[in-house]
Amino acid sequence: MLKKLFIKTYGCQMNVYDSARMADVLAPLGYAPGDSPEDADMVVLNTCHIREKAAEKVYSELGRLRRLKDGRRAVGADLTIAVAGCVAQAEGEEIFARAPFVDMVFGPQAYHRLPEMVARLARGAERVLDTAFPVDDKFDSLPEASAGQGVTAFLTIQEGCDKFCTFCVVPYTRGAEFSRPARDVIADARRLVERGTREITLLGQNVNAYLGPGPAGQAWGLGRLIRALAEIDGLDRVRYTTSHPHDMDDDLIAAHGEVPALMPFLHLPVQSGSDRVLEAMNRRHRADDYRRIVDRLRTARPDLALSSDFIVGFPGESDADFDATMQLVDEIGFAQAFSFKYSPRPGTPAAALVEQVSEPVKQARLAALQALLRDQQDRFNAAQVGRRMPVLLEKPGRRPGQLAGRSPYLQAVHVETTGHAAAQIGRIVDLDITEALPNSLTGIWPAAALRAGGAPVGPLDSAAAGASI
Ligand code: SAH
Ligand code: SF4
Ligand code: F3S
Repeated sequence: MLKKLFIKTYGCQMNVYDSARMADVLAPLGYAPGDSPEDADMVVLNTCHIREKAAEKVYSELGRLRRLKDGRRAVGADLTIAVAGCVAQAEGEEIFARAPFVDMVFGPQAYHRLPEMVARLARGAERVLDTAFPVDDKFDSLPEASAGQGVTAFLTIQEGCDKFCTFCVVPYTRGAEFSRPARDVIADARRLVERGTREITLLGQNVNAYLGPGPAGQAWGLGRLIRALAEIDGLDRVRYTTSHPHDMDDDLIAAHGEVPALMPFLHLPVQSGSDRVLEAMNRRHRADDYRRIVDRLRTARPDLALSSDFIVGFPGESDADFDATMQLVDEIGFAQAFSFKYSPRPGTPAAALVEQVSEPVKQARLAALQALLRDQQDRFNAAQVGRRMPVLLEKPGRRPGQLAGRSPYLQAVHVETTGHAAAQIGRIVDLDITEALPNSLTGIWPAAALRAGGAPVGPLDSAAAGASI
């Protein structure tokens, strides 16, 4: 009998990818994707432990699921509740203690063993816990991805982290760095492209630490892998995330100038602009190293747009340290960025430091930093107005007749169109940017394209297209 599965995903893109793979693992067991917990037989919360808020969300969601499960049991039915991901890895048994109605807890390295776990429950086990790190290779035992992911797709090439930044839980929840063989990555990428993918984002907690066995046994770095992927016919765009400045090697920097498919947008977290704080964070780079790397990247690819992550209020961060961060942001200029208040995480070295920064100070620093970053983002978006740029059309927009796509710089771009809209999804089209909104751009079809009946985009109803601008 067909059963329904609902997976709720928190945290980073690695979790998004893992959730899709969990669905692949459960499909042969008769689980099909459902739309909500209400119509599901199994709910999986794929969790994130990175900050306290992220972890706490899980418990409030579990409260709701308990009520749902109680309701089912009252009528002789049931709901299987699973907690997966980084909270599962970090807290393990503790989850059962706080939420005894949970049936399964398993970490990011264990979900290929889901069929065994489900079988154990079916045989009457009260609950199942699997937070072991692999003795076997998860990727080798995962089934082939069942469906395509669409025009843009994620592909995990590297997992884990050996960096041990003093604030971060990832090395504990995801384990040691591991790179997949280049041959497997290329095969996965080919399959995605055969199913309609035009853009692949290579994923890893530390993706540019990638060092995988190449086809002839020699180790390949990320630059080499990207060059090989760019040769796949039909794969037009490649991106990668998240990188560490320490692993930005010469070949990867050169690839930004030499591989046209490698998009001119890079998420390169710096965390702080103060050397004192970077040292205490164990970041393995100074502020000037970051400046130098950005200079070299921009020399290789002058239009490269940058994104970053920042933490304010790391233990011991002084006003002068924070000013150094503002200074760095001012100098570099970011197209987009994420910034967070430091959140002490159990078991990490920084959580034990005595000089914790007070909440109001963290709040004030975050507000100042975010205002500066917002201003930079607005200016970057506004600078695109009047430009013509290639946009990969990904999906229907929110309004009927609208399509949503991405610029090379990862900005969302909306364009009005009517008729044949679906036929245009998956195409890269040149659009004229007419407007910059806070989180997206508006594009129109270039007049020349309309006169030619939509030549660059294939079938386009010219009357309808005329009406759209
Ligand atoms: N691997 C990536 C990012 C991992 S987590 C890297 O090396 O940068 C994503 C971001 O969350 C981090 O870049 C950091 O800015 C933020 N983060 C991680 N731990 C945090 C903590 N304890 N408090 C606040 N922010 C944190
Ligand atoms: Fe966390 Fe640092 Fe590893 Fe990034 S590099 S995942 S911030 S420990
Ligand atoms: Fe969160 Fe785990 Fe990703 S802690 S950010 S889901 S690696």
